[in-house]
Amino acid sequence: MPGLFISFEGIDGAGKSTHIEALAQAFRDAGRTVVLTREPGGTPLAEQLRGLALNTAMDPLTEALLMFAARRDHLQQVIEPALARGDVVLCDRFTDATFAYQGAGRGFDLDVLAQLERWVQSVPALPAGQLRQPHLTLWFEVDPAVAAQRLAGARAPDRFESQPAEFFRRVAEGYARRADAEPQRFARIDGSRGREAVWQQVLAAVQGRGMLA
Ligand code: TYD
Repeated sequence: MPGLFISFEGIDGAGKSTHIEALAQAFRDAGRTVVLTREPGGTPLAEQLRGLALNTAMDPLTEALLMFAARRDHLQQVIEPALARGDVVLCDRFTDATFAYQGAGRGFDLDVLAQLERWVQSVPALPAGQLRQPHLTLWFEVDPAVAAQRLAGARAPDRFESQPAEFFRRVAEGYARRADAEPQRFARIDGSRGREAVWQQVLAAVQGRGMLA
């Protein structure tokens, strides 16, 4: 079986986390080996970069470079080997988050992000010019006000979670632009509905693409 790469995206509080574990179990039940991972993070080095990026004040270019540095290590150490083995990689966030948070949220130069994306996601397994991208991106869309309510009081907020509502409106717009640019890769999940209804949308997106029976 060819490897499968699925990313999960959405603003903080969109409710993606519970469904990642459920989807992992569904793939395991179907006999697939699953690698459950996250960005920034997924390797010892990238987890250290995550700790810095989420908790230390820094300028937007430094922040973008840390996200892509973590991604490069994660791709090389975890994602590429897993895809080569034919595993299913379920990744909590990937590059769309950088375009949404650093690009739309922080207002950082999208052309620079696109250049970093080309450097970091060029991998030996793919022909020159083709970038490693998820085969499917499950985009959990929820009103930023609802997401903020879900997060309120949950735990001490990090550098992103503590941003004002206006930041998350921009992040949500950033995701929408990425989804518009690549409609075949994105599946929009209405994250405002109840847990079971959201799960049914996740299943339908994956099954509808023939990724799971
Ligand atoms: P998140 O995925 O929400 O994990 P948790 O559920 O543990 O809070 O947290 C990661 C944060 O990092 C989130 O606020 C978005 C941010 N982020 C970026 O700003 N840029 C990126 O490229 C990535 C991958 C994440």
